[in-house]
Amino acid sequence: MHWTQVVYLEDRMTCVKKLAESPGLTSIPSFYTYTTNPKLDEAVSEDPEDSIPVIDFSLLTSGTPQQRSQAIQELGKACKDWGFFLLINHGVPEKQMEAVIEYIRGFFDLTEEEKREFEGKNLLDPIRCGTSFNTSLENVFFWRDFLKILINPDDHEFQFPNKPAGFREASLDYCKRIREVARELLKAISVSLGLEPCYIEKATNLESGLQVFIANLYPPCPQPELAMGLPPHSDHGLLTLVMQNGIGGLQTLHNGNWVNVNAIPNSFLVNTADQLEILSNGKYKSNVHRAVVNNKATRMSLAIANGPSLETMIRPAPELESKEQAAAYIGMKYKDYMELQQGNQLDGKSCLDRVRAFN
Ligand code: OGA
Ligand code: NI
Repeated sequence: MHWTQVVYLEDRMTCVKKLAESPGLTSIPSFYTYTTNPKLDEAVSEDPEDSIPVIDFSLLTSGTPQQRSQAIQELGKACKDWGFFLLINHGVPEKQMEAVIEYIRGFFDLTEEEKREFEGKNLLDPIRCGTSFNTSLENVFFWRDFLKILINPDDHEFQFPNKPAGFREASLDYCKRIREVARELLKAISVSLGLEPCYIEKATNLESGLQVFIANLYPPCPQPELAMGLPPHSDHGLLTLVMQNGIGGLQTLHNGNWVNVNAIPNSFLVNTADQLEILSNGKYKSNVHRAVVNNKATRMSLAIANGPSLETMIRPAPELESKEQAAAYIGMKYKDYMELQQGNQLDGKSCLDRVRAFN
């Protein structure tokens, strides 16, 4: 074992960035070796006949009635067939997106000691930074550092880290804009399900909905084929909007194959999450995705997970239940669901399995 590995083993709880930066690192410590399901291991390249859907946000908000209804139809199809789409013309300025990514880079560049202030102790602490996903339960670590912040508009006491200076204001402003984009998307998704436009908004108390700000850092990895950035999982909220620093690594599971997500510049990578699957009574299945790593460049991503308010009980819309399709999930308070997901190992859709109804 190389000496850097020995040093690292002693404080493996801290961060992978430090490990990746150790001079002369040519192999990864064994606790980063991730074994994937060989059947699912082939990432398929983009098939032009069956590629990730692209949704034009401007048509949903300011298109002609005909363009709007067509865009809603396409959005519904994207949710049903993929649970994943690229969102273009969303109105969030490119400069603002880039600025937030640069603040995130600055945050991860803080010293270990400075970051320790934001470590957090408990799962629902509003600010937590760390490595992997849930190191207290994991034998295999993921090649990823994170900063996770719970943004709950009802919580006025809330503080966002402000190192580097300006990070707080830029991020909170960004989250507000994302909140609006998500609200519009959820309106269109309601309509696509045959529900009234505000159905999801009302059923989830979206006004007070929780947003989770998840900044991810994936440093270059000397053995990218052995490590995993984030394992296959679905997100716990309704809709997650992801942007990245121009470096790819996200893959989405589609018809049993991993598809590389090649982002269009300035687009959001959007995936549907578990609460939408529950609300839609399984019509829109939450998307399973993962993040792979590379040996060339540091990848950063920012996922804003938009969910119901924490106190709201989420259950299938009665309008989407029928004799043939009874409620497929039991109701659960979003807060409990989130705690369940965050408190376990990240493992596909294992959390959703716990709320499936036995029909
Ligand atoms: C997540 C996630 C993907 C990425 O944070 O839940 O799926 O591209 N991130 O970093
Ligand atoms: Ni995710």
